[in-house]
Formats: sequence, C-alpha cells, structure tokens
Amino acid sequence: MSLSDRPSVRLRPEIIALPAYKQGKPADASAFKLSSNENPFDPLPGVVAAVTAETAYNRYPDASALALRERLAAKYSVNVDQVHIGSGSVALLAQLILAAAGPGDEVLYSWRSFEAYPSLVTVAGATSVRVANRTDHGHDLPEMAAAISDHTRVVIVCSPNNPTGTIVTKDEFEAFMAVVPTDLLVILDEAYIEFVTQTDAVNGPPLLARYPNLVVLRTFSKAYGLAGLRVGYALGAVDILNAARSTAIPLSVTAQAAAAAIASLEAEKELLARVRSIAARRDATWQALTRQGWSIPAPQGNFLWLPTGAETTSVAEALGAAGLVVRPFPPEGIRVSIGEEEAVATLLLMSADLVGALPADHPARQIG
Ligand SMILES: Cc1ncc(COP(=O)(O)O)c(C=O)c1O
Repeated sequence: MSLSDRPSVRLRPEIIALPAYKQGKPADASAFKLSSNENPFDPLPGVVAAVTAETAYNRYPDASALALRERLAAKYSVNVDQVHIGSGSVALLAQLILAAAGPGDEVLYSWRSFEAYPSLVTVAGATSVRVANRTDHGHDLPEMAAAISDHTRVVIVCSPNNPTGTIVTKDEFEAFMAVVPTDLLVILDEAYIEFVTQTDAVNGPPLLARYPNLVVLRTFSKAYGLAGLRVGYALGAVDILNAARSTAIPLSVTAQAAAAAIASLEAEKELLARVRSIAARRDATWQALTRQGWSIPAPQGNFLWLPTGAETTSVAEALGAAGLVVRPFPPEGIRVSIGEEEAVATLLLMSADLVGALPADHPARQIG
C-alpha cells in the first residue's frame, strides 16, 4: 500500500482489504451487455406509467411498503408480516446476515456462487465458510451439512446458482433441511427462480410452513426487469424478518420501486411470457453450444456458465472484441447473460471456434 492509498483514519482492516463491488462491465452502444444477468426487454408501458404517477418526491415512502407486501402476501398465501421488502434482494441478504452473524460466527455457502456473499459476511464481521461446488457445478449439500459447526449462524443456498446456473432439487433440499439444526437460519436465494423449467427444482415458498428456520429471497430485478429500481422481498417467519427489519437502513425502498413492483404483479402474465421466451432462448443456446462440443451445466437462470478455466481471460477478451461484454471469473469460467437474439447469434458464431481452440482435455470440452 502506497502512502497515498493509506487511510488517514483508523478503519477496519478487513474492510480495507475487501475488493470494491465489481459491477458487470458496461457496454458501449455497439456492444451487448451480457455481464449482469439483466432482462433485455424494456419495461412495460403500464409499469412506466405507474412509476411516473408517483410524484410526491418531497415525501418519504411508506417504510414497510405495505401495499406491495399485501399483494405478495396474497400471492403466496402468507401473513403480511411474513413478507419483508428491501431495496433489492442483496439488501435483504445483508440485513439477514447482520441479524444472525457477527464476529466469531460463520456463514456457510457453496462456492462459486453469488459474488456479493463474501463481502456481506465480512462487513457483518463474521467468517465465510465455503464448500466447493460439485464437479457438475451444483451445490454439494451433504458436504455443506457436514461443514455446519457450533459457530454456523447462516447457511445460504442459491438455486438457480449464480454463476453456474445449476438448481438444487426439492429432494436434495429436503434431505439437507432434515439434518440442519432447527435453530440455524437457512436463506434460500431464488433470484432466478422464474426462469426455472426443470420440474424437480426446489421452490421455496411452499416449504416455509414446514421449516420455520427458512427464509426465501426473491427479486423484481431479473424476471420482472426492474433491476434499476431496486426492489426484492423476503418470505419467512415474522421473528426472523423483524430482526432483519431492525438491521435495515430505513426508508430505502422508494415509492416508485414499490409502485413498479405492484404494476409488475398486475402485468405478471405478460412478464412471465417474456421469461418463457428468455428460457427458450437459453435452452436453444445451450443445446447449440453442446452440439459444438462445449460441456456446460444445464442452465436454469437467465445466463450460461462456460467453465473456461485457465482460458477464461482470453475467451472473455475474444467475446468482448466481437461486441459481447460478458462476466469473467478467472480462473474458473465465464458467465454469459441471455440477452437479445442478435447477441446470442454472435455468441454462437464465435463459440464453435473458441471451443475448438481449447486443449483437447479441457473441462469445458466434451470428451471424445
Ligand atoms: C443469486 C443472486 N441473489 C441476489 C441478487 C441480488 O439481486 P437484487 O439485489 O437486484 O435483487 C443477485 C443479483 O445478481 C443474484 O445473482
């Protein structure tokens, strides 16, 4: 650290050591941004109208977003206090971790998974315990269960998993919950659940009644296309959500975000038709890549995982030069969001040569 980098005041060393949140790279006008798992569709006119109708900028919003909670409570057949709204599900993750884990406590999750998990744990003063994904890139739930200690305060399960796109099955999840202590908070992060087509995947809300230590996180950022407005929700037991509410920065969910979420629920049929078209584009892309010789886990979010290993940076650069801004995680792989049709066409044009150039025994290539 040079003298100019050194903080002039005493700060927490683990915070100084944290890498700043790395957002998906922006794309210039001629390129496609496939680096943040965003929804490529523009907002529906009705959603835009609902946002622009909220003009009382001089007033604070309703702190608990009651109108939105009522809609979600009806949708999931739960009590209104079993719904908690946050400015994105990442805010809810932060609140729940802060509520349950502090110095000396452990937060357990599969890795590689959502890149925000490690920093949120460090900010809380707790310690991350990571369990490696299986070789098929899915969560290894038996290994995660074995890693639970007396210090574990939170377990995060991500299905579909960002960035590998794999799901946890209902059976796997239930077997896991059967051995997890009932006083240990389990967060099921379902940011991409609406894109799931595999019928054996876990689906959190119907399990809440059985597992009082479970909190399910969902978001309007992905399937509903509201990433820029920041609104997500947690479903779970009132006592856990009240603790999360106590750690929240008050009044973070704007009236515009809540209105957009309500309008999106009203337009759900149309939005879910878009989701189905993205999922169909995803499956067709995966099949085409598989025919080209790629070995890629079956994707269940709105993105694909190319396990490019040591070749991650060079493959990401080649895609970038062709106008595709993707998300490299060297030395593991590349996450590519399913964006516009033209973006997928460009990917498939490039990817045949890219897989052919990988070493014959590379894990991203099919054997034979
Ligand atoms: C697995 C997962 N969880 C949560 C989030 C947070 O989404 P948001 O804060 O926009 O709701 C993301 C965003 O990329 C994600 O990939």
